[in-house]
Parts: sequence; C-alpha cells; structure tokens
Amino acid sequence: MAVLTAERLPRAVTVYEVGPRDGLQNEPTAVPLAAKRAFVEALAAAGLRWVEATSFVHPKWVPQLADAADLMQALARRPGTRYPVLVPNEKGLDRALERGCDAVAVFAAVTEGFSRKNQNASVAEVLAGLRPVVERARAAGLWVRGYLSVVWGCPYEGAVDPARARTLAGDLVAMGVDEVSLGDTIGVATPGEVERVVEVVAAAAPLERLALHFHDTRGTALANVLAGLLAGVTTFDASAGGLGGCPYAVGASGNLDTCDLLYMLHGLGIETGVDLEAVRAAAQAIAGVLGRPLPGRYSQAGPFVARG
Ligand code: HMG
Ligand code: MG
Repeated sequence: MAVLTAERLPRAVTVYEVGPRDGLQNEPTAVPLAAKRAFVEALAAAGLRWVEATSFVHPKWVPQLADAADLMQALARRPGTRYPVLVPNEKGLDRALERGCDAVAVFAAVTEGFSRKNQNASVAEVLAGLRPVVERARAAGLWVRGYLSVVWGCPYEGAVDPARARTLAGDLVAMGVDEVSLGDTIGVATPGEVERVVEVVAAAAPLERLALHFHDTRGTALANVLAGLLAGVTTFDASAGGLGGCPYAVGASGNLDTCDLLYMLHGLGIETGVDLEAVRAAAQAIAGVLGRPLPGRYSQAGPFVARG
C-alpha cells in the first residue's frame, strides 16, 4: 500500500534558509562582507522567502558574524522576503532594531549543559532573559522565532526526554513567538524519534507553528524531514550546500543541505517556490570563497541528466 500519497503529504512547504547564519558562524575562514551579502542576496533571488542572514550575539563568542550590523545595512532586501537575525538578549535586539531588522530568532536549549556552554546561563535564566526580548520585539511589530536546541540529544547530557521540548515550546508560545524551531543540533535524531517528538510537542505548540531544524551529522536529516512531513510539519530549516554547525556544540557538523531538501520535496510533488539550481549556484559561489567543496550531496552531484 502506498504511503507517500498526496493525501499524506502537504501540497506546499516553507524552506527556511539558515546558511548565512548557522553555516558561516562555524567557518574558520573569515568571509568578507561583500561575499556574505552576495550569498544572502543570491539565496533570496532563488526564491527563498526566509533567509536567516546573521546574528547579533556577542562578537567575541562568534567573531565570524561580528559584521552583522554592516551586513544588515548593506543588504538589498527583496519585498516579500524576510531576513531574520539571531538575537540572544535585549542587547542583541537593540542592535537588530538599529539596523531595521523586521524578524528575529531567539534561542534556548532543552538541557542545562548545553545552555551553559552556548549562552553562559541556565535554561531558566535564558528564558527569563528572553521574555522582554520577545515582548519588545512583538511590540515593535517584528516576527519572532524561538529555537530550541539539542532536542534529540545533547553533547554534554546525552539522550533527552521529549517532555523537555514540550514544556519549553509551550513557554516560548506563551511568550508570544510566532514559530518554534526544534533543533537537532548535533545530528543524532532518527525518523521514529522525530515522529515521537513532534507528537509530544504538538500538545504545546500547534503544528502550523512548528519548524524542524536538522543537522546532517549522521546522514539522517532527509529521512527525518520525511518523518516530519508525515507527522504534519510544513516548515523545514536547511543550509545551502550543507554549510554549518554550532561552535559551542561538540560534534555539530553541517546542516541539511537546502539543495538535498529541495530535490526530495520537488520529487515528492511538494511546492516550495524555490529554484533548486539557483540555490546550488549560490552554494558553489560561497564554496569558492571558502576554498573547499561543501558537503551537501545534491550540491556535489548536480541535476539528474542522462549521459547516453
Ligand atoms: P555573557 O558574556 O554571559 O554576556 O554572554 P553578559 O550578559 O555577561 O555581558 C558581557 C558583555 O557582553 C557586556 O559588555 C555586554 O554588553 C556584552 P561589557 O559591559 O562587558 O562591555 N553583550 C553583547 N554585546 C553584543 N551583542 C550582544 C551582547 N550581549 C552581551 N548580543 C551571551 C552571554 C548570550 C551574549 C553569549 O553567550 C553569546 O553571545 N552566546 C551566543 C553563542 C552563539 O551564538 N551560539 C551559536 C548560535 S545557537 C545555534 O547555532 C543553534 C541553532 O542553530 C539551533 C540548533 O541547531 O539547535 C539556533
Ligand atoms: Mg543549528
């Protein structure tokens, strides 16, 4: 009996691009501002309506993105495209507002160990600090996403009870975030666990406000997306070429490649509004700047053409 039928799958999916932020934050090479700008603009021109452009975290913690203010100033923004920026606290929000950002992403972890390493504070302290950020951002008319990290496993604490994600997703929704993105920060999730976590978290955050954010460390990211689709999620994060990681998560390698994701979604007959080859070209251009090939499979293999 067929499982992957149109009745079981969404007609359209939102792809939320994180390469310029989650990808470039982990690169040892400093990418020049002009190349970052060209990357973000090329991704938006490819039809991606959500491009997380940079982050206003402490520049000493993530020097790769210390030029966030200059990038947001320089960027030619397309109408209809949103360019969220990551902010850890009110100081980050102030810096984002100064640059006219209209969407922000806050973040918290579901374990104490990761929270300390990534944000130098306990989970409760981080949440208390996020409340005024979300409140002020919403009062200023910004769209707000809330990330939860290490939902499927923590490099410092191991396996995590899905009830943690349910509680914290509920807290974020109660604060007023528009969307909650569940992060598999170190790429340990498998499809059955994705289904289970989505079912548990959906009790606290409606499915239409959930996004899934997979790192592809162990090759399960696409299978996890498929599990998420069948569980009713319609927003997925990905990074052009599979750039990415988190400097404070031991073992976090690249995110799911946006091209791999688009290839699978389009093959399933799901609309995204995104031009796959244009994303691949953007990934190849940034790979040229970094001086190395990116890990994404489609980005390397290219389109399916008969060579006979
Ligand atoms: P802290 O050192 O504890 O900060 O860092 P503090 O509040 O004690 O302040 C110390 C100084 O930093 C002060 O300056 C502040 O003004 C300044 P001073 O008075 O000493 O001159 N400061 C700032 N400066 C600029 N921008 C700011 C800012 N905040 C404070 N926003 C903090 C705490 C949270 C700021 C720090 O730990 C930090 O920036 N962490 C970010 C780490 C990070 O970016 N990690 C990667 C992103 S998360 C991720 O990748 C996961 C995700 O992809 C999902 C997934 O995969 O799971 C989203
Ligand atoms: Mg990430």
